[in-house]
Amino acid sequence: MIRRRLIRKFLSRSSLALLVICATHLAAFDRTIFADDEVELGRLLYSDPNLSLNRNQSCATCHSLTPALGPGSDQPLSTPGFVDPESVHTSTPVSRGSVSGKFGALNAPSVGYAAFSPEFHWDPAERRFVGGQFWNGRAANLQAQAGQPVLNPAEMAMPSKWALVTRLKENSTYRQLFAQLYGLTLDGVEGNELASATNTPPAGVLAIYDAATQAISQFERDRSFSKFTSKFDFYLAGMTTLNSNELDGLSVFVVKAGCAACHTSDAGTDAQGHTTPPLFSNFTYHNVGLPRNVNIPGNPPVDLGLGGRPDIAATPGGTTQLGKHKVVSLRNVAVTPPYGHNGVFTNLEQVVHFYNTRDRLGRVDSNTNAGFGITGWPEPEVPQNLNVDLTGTLHLTTQEEADVVAFLRTLTDGYPETGADPSVPPGTPSPFANTAIPQIPARLAVTAPGTLLLSGHLGIDYRVEYSDSLSVTNFWEPLLTTRLLSNSLPILDTNWGRLPKRFYRAVQSP
Ligand code: HEC
Ligand code: HEC
Repeated sequence: MIRRRLIRKFLSRSSLALLVICATHLAAFDRTIFADDEVELGRLLYSDPNLSLNRNQSCATCHSLTPALGPGSDQPLSTPGFVDPESVHTSTPVSRGSVSGKFGALNAPSVGYAAFSPEFHWDPAERRFVGGQFWNGRAANLQAQAGQPVLNPAEMAMPSKWALVTRLKENSTYRQLFAQLYGLTLDGVEGNELASATNTPPAGVLAIYDAATQAISQFERDRSFSKFTSKFDFYLAGMTTLNSNELDGLSVFVVKAGCAACHTSDAGTDAQGHTTPPLFSNFTYHNVGLPRNVNIPGNPPVDLGLGGRPDIAATPGGTTQLGKHKVVSLRNVAVTPPYGHNGVFTNLEQVVHFYNTRDRLGRVDSNTNAGFGITGWPEPEVPQNLNVDLTGTLHLTTQEEADVVAFLRTLTDGYPETGADPSVPPGTPSPFANTAIPQIPARLAVTAPGTLLLSGHLGIDYRVEYSDSLSVTNFWEPLLTTRLLSNSLPILDTNWGRLPKRFYRAVQSP
């Protein structure tokens, strides 16, 4: 039943996957393709410990590309979860930084499927914030995110962008690829490994930093992070069956427990209009009432999530966002313990039991209490905006909880290799291997009549075009073609004024 419904939705939406251009002054059009060299540069940067202060940590340290050892086990898990393997193995809620003794304050989320989170935005129809990266969405997209860990004192701890560029200069492959991909010469920039953030960097540093973060983000858009090879994917495609516990679990997940209201189990549409298989997140923000985790080193202050961001707090209604964290995808969730923004839950059974009984079990004082999750739960760390409509009292039986966990375990990628399923032998490609992975969109901002700012995928040639109408039969005239070497590139239309209104778009030039 449910499978048929999911598939029907998937099929009906794929036929609609046409690109619609919004009818406003600024029109953006996107046809970015992968540049393999750029993905390769991103892969090198992602795994390079030289980009951390003590040359001991890279993105891959906390978002590993290889399977972690299982919790308390010396056996590796079946597939990478793109989280901190030390956290998985030892249930430590947070990660060590490059500087000895420094720890972050939050649980490292998976980079898997992160490319599908839309740009952070306010959805006026639903009246809620959607998308972005980080538990509180403070990075609008993957490029903006990738620039932050390098400079975070509790993570890679580089003192400044200039210092980072100095490290990039050391590497001849980087020197070559930055020149080839972005027309940037690393040799032209004077090095200063100790430059602090208050030193004014020489020209070129910011462009190199932007290009580096873009390359990392392109690697994170590689299909290896978004494989769609779980048992559930093959089940959706009709290539295998779920066992009765998994099927019951799917049904409870969607219907009785209502998990799918936030962890979407239907096919969807990405920001660029492409159909996606279920991503198990609608990328919105909620306070599901996680208790405080007293095991976090350094006992950091309460994390207020979305509403704790100064920019959100300053908006009218900012307090209605306090305590809300991003709904994370549940793909690969079985290989990414511990759980929640503060890692307070060590296993999936606990998470499901929490959703089921948060408001009905008794109270214990903290998560170190032996009765944690058995006789009671500690109170929610942030009492404001607690979601009580969909979470807290679900009336699930013990069997139904176990079934939901069995279902969650079908979301782990690599099923052909690990499933020992004759109908899906090793090497079977994903039934959704052609799913488009959202790319960096081109953006045109009109700042004054005839004055535009172009942003998009650095290193790509764009043709900026104009039209005097947005009717279906209109004709787009070329204004200019340019290789985008820095964002917010100013473009002038000297013929503006001839007509009352002009529409623009940027297309990737072949
Ligand atoms: C010391 C561990 C550590 C390192 C090193 C690290 N991260 Fe993270 N990463 C985290 C933590 C912790 C968070 C969550 C922080 C938050 O939400 O405020 C995070 C969040 C993210 C997210 C957001 C995912 C989501 O679903 O919101 C992405 C993407 C990411 N990191 C990529 C990277 C990249 C790229 C690098 C290297 C440039 C990197 N990380 C380096 C620990 C780390
Ligand atoms: C109201 C929306 C909502 C509903 C309903 C919901 N979740 Fe969540 N889920 C979230 C949010 C938000 C988070 C992150 C919470 C945090 O860290 O503070 C989350 C986190 C999780 C995590 C931890 C993921 C990780 O990688 O750390 C799991 C597992 C999970 N949910 C499973 C479920 C299941 C199973 C159900 C149904 C029983 C469910 N959720 C219902 C919003 C929801």
